[in-house]
Amino acid sequence: MTEGLFIPELTYAPSDPHAEESPLLACLLSTADCANGGARLPACAGSARQVLAKGDFTGKRRDTLLLYPDGKGPERLLLIGLGETTDLEVEHFRALAGRAARRATALGMERMAIRLPDESGNDVVAAVTQGAVLGTVPGGWAKESTVKAIALHGGGGDSEAVRTGVALAEATLFARSLVDAPPNRLYPETLAEEARRIEGSSVSARILEGDALEREGLHALAAVGRGSDHPPRFVVLEYDGSNGDGPSITLIGKGITFDSGGLSLKSPDRMIHMKYDMAGAAAVLGAFRSAVRLELPVHLWAVVPSAENMPGGGAYRPGDIVSSFKGLTIEVDNTDAEGRLLLADGLAWAEKNLSPDEMIDMATLTGACRIALGAHAAGLFSNDDVFAARLSQAGRYSGERVWQLPLWEAYRNELESETADMKNVGKSGPGGGASVAAAFLGRFVESTPWAHLDIAGMAWTASGDDLRNKGASGFGAGLLLTYLMERSGRNRS
Ligand code: BES
Ligand code: MN
Ligand code: ZN
Repeated sequence: MTEGLFIPELTYAPSDPHAEESPLLACLLSTADCANGGARLPACAGSARQVLAKGDFTGKRRDTLLLYPDGKGPERLLLIGLGETTDLEVEHFRALAGRAARRATALGMERMAIRLPDESGNDVVAAVTQGAVLGTVPGGWAKESTVKAIALHGGGGDSEAVRTGVALAEATLFARSLVDAPPNRLYPETLAEEARRIEGSSVSARILEGDALEREGLHALAAVGRGSDHPPRFVVLEYDGSNGDGPSITLIGKGITFDSGGLSLKSPDRMIHMKYDMAGAAAVLGAFRSAVRLELPVHLWAVVPSAENMPGGGAYRPGDIVSSFKGLTIEVDNTDAEGRLLLADGLAWAEKNLSPDEMIDMATLTGACRIALGAHAAGLFSNDDVFAARLSQAGRYSGERVWQLPLWEAYRNELESETADMKNVGKSGPGGGASVAAAFLGRFVESTPWAHLDIAGMAWTASGDDLRNKGASGFGAGLLLTYLMERSGRNRS
């Protein structure tokens, strides 16, 4: 599935005497740079200077202009507007580098160079690298770009920042490639195989299937998987780069490879695209893979409970009472509220068996979260506000916004059941559904700092932008990797 992951070759040198020989040189210019008459343009940019002098390119954010300078220098000069410097953030550099790379790809370039503003530090170098890679390969799965090499120059960063930027982009692309894979090819067994292929020193994999699931006590996961001919899997990857003194963190991803709703069957218009119900698992695996490649000093686990939610003859039913790893019983009101069941087992299993310092789960859990926040932020829930604030910060930096929603006891009370420890859906219908689902998960966590990210509104995009085509967004992979970098004391650049 991920064989086709293509990454262009990135190089960085603050001053590169050959960059101007590139077939395409992209220059990022602010409005102030343009008002100055392009003092920052390369020596060869004679005609571009005239364009600036005449005010035909003002550096407005996202404006682009392609020029063909005479004489020596690059064959093509692509001016990219950074806008005003007052509100210029790292995320703008990322997106604008993506814009430049998309343009170079559309022009069929094999190589390109990007000139950064002089004051660019490692943050900008990493973000431009990340954006340039994502702009070159905006679609993830099995797509290759004509652009094979990108040379960055200008600014004052170092090549470590390039490594960081590539790792961030790769985390996202890996996640997209899994999410974009069709559900007849990506089902629990093949998702587990993809996870197993994540290699590296100090990585080990454990995959449970068949009777071993029930023997392990993962009853809720087993119940959800029973309606499908593609049986469930429980995947645990471990990477220990901590040398015994780094933080230990468990990432848990919802791995429903297709959500038909089960016997509480979804209508066709809601079932479409439900292959992306494993986007939480994909983000977790993408971040894990890149953390390994960066050799981050953390002790990290990726836990992926995976099933296909189908209405086959063995399927669990509304009215069933299902047991769970934690021993709590769950009355099933709606088989379409399946994600919380397998995450409940994942969280409780991880807390008991791994005893990590922190647990983060990521899931396309509720349509209600999408209604609450739209396609602009993921929902964040946590039993620890300091932890939540750090994750928000990571998301702000990575350009994957999250917004904290409440986890009050009132939501938990909605789940009261007369015949079991809880129901799997709230009494008062869809209202507050994202918080009710989070409160359900909260019952399976004892005391470990835990955060839940509901990415239902973010994992799939109906329209593309500078950094992605429509379809799988890979949302969350960059946020998790950014958080792991911060948390392990490795500056993000
Ligand atoms: N996978 C869905 C949530 C979802 C909905 C993700 C739309 C992306 C877009 C989840 O398993 C689900 O079906 N949730 C139900 C819960 C309800 C039955 C309480 C929902 O949101 O409708
Ligand atoms: Mn569902
Ligand atoms: Zn689902």
